[in-house]
Amino acid sequence: MQIVLILHSLFRWAVLLFGFWTLLNAITGFFGKRTYSASDNRSNLLFMISCDIQLLIGLILYFTNGWFDRLKDLGNNMKDPHNRFFTMEHMSLLLVAWVMVHIGRAAVKRADTDAAKHKKMLIFFGIALLLILVSIPWPFRQVIERPYFRWFN
Ligand code: HEM
Repeated sequence: MQIVLILHSLFRWAVLLFGFWTLLNAITGFFGKRTYSASDNRSNLLFMISCDIQLLIGLILYFTNGWFDRLKDLGNNMKDPHNRFFTMEHMSLLLVAWVMVHIGRAAVKRADTDAAKHKKMLIFFGIALLLILVSIPWPFRQVIERPYFRWFN
């Protein structure tokens, strides 16, 4: 399971890279009144794919590392901020982020003007990226802190 945890930890950087690239494209596209380009499409497609992969790895960890089992003793686990974070908060906020990315991608495809496409990118992917940033157990977050980079020990 250590390798899965390492993958999940490292893969966050791919998600963030594609997320910020998408956001940058959305901002420059919307405020610069650019046409919707191949780079816009590529960035949000890669953001979506990276979120899909991260969700899959997260689900493996959730079901095999004992987090799902903790739901049986929900009362006690909700009192413990560390267990509450990994059994409920992290998983549910990031599922919402994942849904936003998928709805966002469909909404961008459906929008009929370049301005509308960039606006949808900004709203949906912006919210998703914000949710991702606040749900990561950064080393500076007390009680739930995890390293920036995890490797074999
Ligand atoms: C964009 C989405 C996500 C990002 C960026 C992300 C990021 C992270 C990071 C950085 C850690 C700490 C890894 C470490 O200890 O070094 C972590 C832990 C964890 N994540 Fe995620 N995660 C995401 C989505 C999810 C989802 C959707 C689930 C569940 C369905 C999930 C389940 C978990 C679990 C269970 C742990 C704790 C693993 C353990 O210590 O046993 N993650 N996540």
